[in-house]
Amino acid sequence: MSAVPAFDPRAAVPRHVAIVMDGNGRWAKKRFMPRFFGHKAGVDALVRTVLSCADRGVEYLTVFAFSSENWKRPTEEVSGLMGLVLVAVAKYLSKLADKGVRIRIVGDRSQVSDKLRHAWEQAESSTRHNSRITLSVAFNYGGRWDIVQACRQAISEGVPAAALDEAALNKYMALSHAPDPDLFIRTGGEVRISNFLLWQAAYSELFFSDCLWPEFDDAELDAAFAAYAKRDRRFGAVDSAANATALDRV
Ligand code: IPE
Ligand code: IPE
Ligand code: MG
Repeated sequence: MSAVPAFDPRAAVPRHVAIVMDGNGRWAKKRFMPRFFGHKAGVDALVRTVLSCADRGVEYLTVFAFSSENWKRPTEEVSGLMGLVLVAVAKYLSKLADKGVRIRIVGDRSQVSDKLRHAWEQAESSTRHNSRITLSVAFNYGGRWDIVQACRQAISEGVPAAALDEAALNKYMALSHAPDPDLFIRTGGEVRISNFLLWQAAYSELFFSDCLWPEFDDAELDAAFAAYAKRDRRFGAVDSAANATALDRV
């Protein structure tokens, strides 16, 4: 009989977690409050989650904060969200910086105000030397936008078609600073991707939570990690052991 390997809790921790932070509006509605109230509580949930992930040894956390399609919302909600980013940076940047968080913003910056671009630059530059956890905030981001912008960059740099393989294109993708997400969580009860990391989530493990984002807490994060720890990640191989052998060969 072969020996049972000792349980390694670290193996259960995903290196890169991606989250679609959904359900702010419904959380506010349940409390007879305007949607903005939910978005504000959503920022607090984000800060809590960043620190909980860092405590558990997660190296990369990528969150969906505003999609390419969210411009379709009422102007008042869109401008409220833009203003909230400025408030959130002013309120939480130094706390996150002190806790060792490196911040990256991913998405199309060309459509946002100078003020917002400046706040992001400040968040990125003041945390660039941190290495405990990398928080990538997807803002005005869409998975399809990302693939198109990567192709455009590669073409404009004159990369020949024959040289443009998956690894080469990945260098132009918005999350080229991170490995692919291991665990993809969506809160809010919807079971869809909504144009988040289409390229990068090819082999992510998916976890859908009925929690509305502002109520997402350590218990739900640990439930997601526990589910993740039980998954058999085969990446197309017959079993995970065969896959490890195949990876050794390449
Ligand atoms: C997610 O919460 C936050 C953003 C999309 C900005 P929602 O605003 O989508 O909340 P629900 O889904 O309407 O409850
Ligand atoms: C996805 O949520 C985008 C973010 C959380 C930023 P949505 O609320 O926009 O997604 P749909 O419209 O329900 O698919
Ligand atoms: Mg939603």
